[in-house]
Amino acid sequence: MNVNIINLAYLLASVLFVLGIKGLTSPRTAVRGNAYSGLAMLIAVVATLVDRNILTFEYIIAGVAVGALIGAILAMKIKMTDMPQLVAVFNGFGGGASVLVAGAAYLEIMGALPGGVASKALSAAGIDPAHDYQMLIATAASGIIGSVTFFGSFIAYAKLQRLFLEGATAFPGQRIVNLLVAIVTVGLGVAMVLQPENVNLYWIMVAAAAVLGLLLTVAIGGADMPVVIALLNSYSGLAAAATGFVLQNNVLIIAGSLVGASGVILTKIMCKAMNRSLVNVLFGGALGPGESTVSSDDVYAGKVKATSGEEVAMIMDGARRVVIVPGYGMAVAQAQHAVRDLMNLLEARGTQVEFAIHPVAGRMPGHMNVLLAEAEVPYDKLREMDAINPEMNQVDVCIVLGANDVVNPLAKTDPSCPIAGMPIIDVDKAHTVVVIKRSLSPGFAMIPNPLFAADNALMYFEDAKKAIQEIAQAVKEL
Ligand code: TAP
Repeated sequence: MNVNIINLAYLLASVLFVLGIKGLTSPRTAVRGNAYSGLAMLIAVVATLVDRNILTFEYIIAGVAVGALIGAILAMKIKMTDMPQLVAVFNGFGGGASVLVAGAAYLEIMGALPGGVASKALSAAGIDPAHDYQMLIATAASGIIGSVTFFGSFIAYAKLQRLFLEGATAFPGQRIVNLLVAIVTVGLGVAMVLQPENVNLYWIMVAAAAVLGLLLTVAIGGADMPVVIALLNSYSGLAAAATGFVLQNNVLIIAGSLVGASGVILTKIMCKAMNRSLVNVLFGGALGPGESTVSSDDVYAGKVKATSGEEVAMIMDGARRVVIVPGYGMAVAQAQHAVRDLMNLLEARGTQVEFAIHPVAGRMPGHMNVLLAEAEVPYDKLREMDAINPEMNQVDVCIVLGANDVVNPLAKTDPSCPIAGMPIIDVDKAHTVVVIKRSLSPGFAMIPNPLFAADNALMYFEDAKKAIQEIAQAVKEL
């Protein structure tokens, strides 16, 4: 195919990728942004397959159909609450693909594959691949970053799915061991670049990077997992960009760089939200402190007060200002539509209703924003944590809807708990706090929450959607 047409297709795909990322910066334009990015990926994949004469049209169409079917089934079946696991798997496959594609290109160029078309073409053109340092360094980078991403992502998946290695699994001297493994891995990369004929070095380097990926991720646990997912996302982009240099493929370099850069920005935002240092995450330190020593018996014994829908409705009868703090439980219960109805009901009665959004509430960045946007809650009702906290003492009733860690005061008072130092929404400053959840079970960080036993807190033990519907019914009957 004409090289100009292929380059034009790549240019179009790159522009669409940039527009896609731009669209994803706001909930209003996110759906369009996603569509642009999907179309860009389709154009890039088809152009590449056609360009390299890798496959015939029949195979391309069949591949697109099978891939689209698997993607569509996954997207429809996956629960919103399981998104981080899916993202972890996607990141892992991205990293794994980079290792294999860069590795295959390297083996072919070095003449280590049967047939070796590329190596013959290079030697016919008088080019010695053993001195093509740009390609060799890019190959080493792709192998190292891709392998760290693949193995790190699958550990992250296992942790998020609560399969094994929950929490931060650190051992004494872990940072030193991580550093040594990192030095050995980079050393193997340098050796591979200097002795490219010894292709086995590539796979030994990939194995060392696999150990590094495992070590970096096992050390991180609990509430810090969102930060790691964002970081692995960035790594998968960097690995793809490096593979783009190996293959001399511009669209892969551009798309990989976009993912790498946006992943780093997201990691930085997450670090800020969790009050963690980026350097710590990069080096797989045990980010947060260890186990909390506070027991739930000490925290709750005899201090928890239960309430009902009727009582909550009565408390809200005289309220001028109500703030709702949604969390993971709202997503599980799919209570966003019910809560929108309650908002409309209260506003019709003259009560001001707002939503306080914590940056890591739920299980993925922007989780609460997406759910509330789906229920058509106006964007101007959503207040960020930093904006609402100073006003919390003017709030009459705060409804904590299926949130736990993001309102847990232990983050401020227990330096040994896994969320120590994480900023929280100061719901305890409101006049009355109503916490809606099914039991006294802990949240993602697996620690008790003294808020539930606070003097101004009432516990409404119920499924989030059912509780909100019962409150709305009781408000109507007032
Ligand atoms: P969590 O601390 O996980 O607490 C959620 C609470 O929802 C649980 O205590 C649970 O209590 C309750 N719940 C579950 N199903 C419910 C239902 N059907 N109805 C009512 N309540 C229900 O949630 P959070 O406050 O949103 O904090 C998020 C946590 O996840 C943080 O630790 C964060 O670091 C972590 N995390 C976040 C992300 C991102 S990017 N957002 C990704 C991974 C992890 P019951 O069982 O008693 O009902």
